[in-house]
Amino acid sequence: MSQIDDVRSKTDIVEVIGASGVSLRKTGRSFVGFCPFHPNSRTPAFTVYPDSQSFYCFGCHASGTVFDYVMRKQGLDFKDALEQLAARAGVRLEPRGDQERQEDARRTRLLEINAAAAKYFNYVLLSLARGQPGRDYVERRGLTPETVESFQVGYSMDDWGHLFTYLTGKKGYPPEDVVAAGLAIDHETRGPYDRFRGRLIFPIRDARGQVVGFGGRALGDAQPKYLNTPETLLFKKGELLYGLDLARDAIRDEDRTVVVEGYVDVITAHQHGFRNVVAPLGTAITKGHVALLKRLSHNVYMALDADAAGQKATLKGLNALRDGAEEGEGGHLVATAQGAVRLESDVSLRIIRMPEGRDPDEVIKADPDLWRQLVADAVPVMEFYIGTYTGGLDLGDPQGQRAALDKLLPLLSELDGAQQRVYIARLEQVIGIKAELILDLLRGGRSKGAGSWGLGVRERTSGAGSRKSHPNPQPPTPNPQPPTPNPQPPTPKVENYLLALALRHNTVVPAAVEALLEQGIEAHPAVRELLGGGLEDVLEDPANQQIWAAFMAMPIESRPTDEAGLEAWAGWLEEPLRERYLALLAGAQRNPQDFRHRREAEDCARGLRLEQARRMHRMLLQRIAEPDAGESDHSAELRQMAALAQFIADSTAPRRSSTFPDIRDTLGKV
Ligand code: UTP
Ligand code: MN
Repeated sequence: MSQIDDVRSKTDIVEVIGASGVSLRKTGRSFVGFCPFHPNSRTPAFTVYPDSQSFYCFGCHASGTVFDYVMRKQGLDFKDALEQLAARAGVRLEPRGDQERQEDARRTRLLEINAAAAKYFNYVLLSLARGQPGRDYVERRGLTPETVESFQVGYSMDDWGHLFTYLTGKKGYPPEDVVAAGLAIDHETRGPYDRFRGRLIFPIRDARGQVVGFGGRALGDAQPKYLNTPETLLFKKGELLYGLDLARDAIRDEDRTVVVEGYVDVITAHQHGFRNVVAPLGTAITKGHVALLKRLSHNVYMALDADAAGQKATLKGLNALRDGAEEGEGGHLVATAQGAVRLESDVSLRIIRMPEGRDPDEVIKADPDLWRQLVADAVPVMEFYIGTYTGGLDLGDPQGQRAALDKLLPLLSELDGAQQRVYIARLEQVIGIKAELILDLLRGGRSKGAGSWGLGVRERTSGAGSRKSHPNPQPPTPNPQPPTPNPQPPTPKVENYLLALALRHNTVVPAAVEALLEQGIEAHPAVRELLGGGLEDVLEDPANQQIWAAFMAMPIESRPTDEAGLEAWAGWLEEPLRERYLALLAGAQRNPQDFRHRREAEDCARGLRLEQARRMHRMLLQRIAEPDAGESDHSAELRQMAALAQFIADSTAPRRSSTFPDIRDTLGKV
């Protein structure tokens, strides 16, 4: 039994949830209570099922196992949740290997040293004569004794070795561990000396409240203003948020996190009762940060410096990131004053706009109500960019409109369909360019991001300009020379004919074909995974795939349906796709009164699907037969081949008559 199973079997979810402060009432086989993951005090929608050892909330749809519960409730990662539940269940978790055991031991030692140092700094601040400069500074910044205690604020006296001597002497820690914790710096000739001297100390704790590093604020103008623990075994800036251990409950209760930039911003916020506030450690928000926050709430608010320099940095970081962004990841863009990252798409990000030149610390101290208002007025990140990019532009002037669109189109293209529509409408309002035109420009600009699908498709910007030039707010001009009917005979391929039918009758055929394909694989989920269920999936020829993708990339209402429109659309394709496209059209000339197209297309698609399945079957067979693949296990391929064989058999079996008895049934009875 794995350790995880061991812990699972010795843990009762009802007991764990009950002990975490949720009161549960038994109803039938399950237990119900108020959900700890969404604010609600009327309907007990939170249900715990002892049989399956799981929970589900009918209100917010939170669900999972006892591990999920602990992770989410306490903001822990899986490993930490496992440790906690193991301790509770009395299961000893064996470190997996010697190396990990050593690392665990080392980590534990460094945590101990950090805890001792935090205590020491705090003691110096509160009790020693040499802590007086720290006490003066704390008073100047308006930190209350309660705040000093809850954040365990401290002071490092102005001394080269006081802490080092204390930790290695009185406490007996090995000097190299004190160095490894980042508290001392090892000088080549003179040996280790204290890193933090004459600074106000902010211990940095992880989500569990363990001290993993320190930030030290100079009392005067000394540089750097903040000195931080370097990256150590424990201190990983990209995965830590200052104040998270204290903010956790509030973030969950309010269902939102406010991210500020500085230590003091966090502290002041908490001191004034804004307890859902955290800060990164002088870095941009990373994916790691988002992963931490997402466990607590999917609503993230960021307070950005309003100064011009700050905004420029944000936008620069954003653009750098876009350029390097991997395709297909999807998600929103996130900005911080120092940069930007891509976020998973299920996080909603808002930007709190700060009054120029003031940070949250100053605003909150001067006027907590103003802060409250600023948070309430936070705007969605896209709205923030619209404001930033249109600010200072004259939108009554086409030049200004273009400049704004140039900046905003790429951002718009990052959004998912529903959001895109919302913001296209918004841009129409703000910039004064028609929504259809924006949409058109957006689709045209897609080809770069569309991978192989977009190859050879000309951009929808006409005129001499390249992609970098301003999108031209003119209706697209198709190829000026009317295309001459292609002289060469139409290619006989079935798929060419199907594609031609789909293009010509694009309001009927694609839907009919997809319904047919879908019906065929309904009973064969494994085949669906292998072969796909769209018209594009039965096209084998890359040129055909590209033509179809380009066609489908147009909004439905602008897809041509008559002869002239279809021919004109060739103007959007580059050679050799254009030639292929025109040949396709020519090969499927037909009388518009002829309504057999649907039936014909279905027959084509049925045949192509079979071919596709056979091709895939052959390919899998080849893969298994590869000579060098001796040790690999082919069970997946074999399963897939069996599924394909069944699918082929089903698809080729004669249809049953609704009138006459089927011989197959009779055979079965013999
Ligand atoms: P700021 O320079 O905005 O300082 O740095 P602040 O938070 O307003 O600090 P006070 O109010 O002057 O004391 C914001 C954050 O950037 C990181 C720190 O985390 C700081 O809180 N930082 C800044 C550093 O790590 N090193 C520095 O030298 C400066
Ligand atoms: Mn400040």
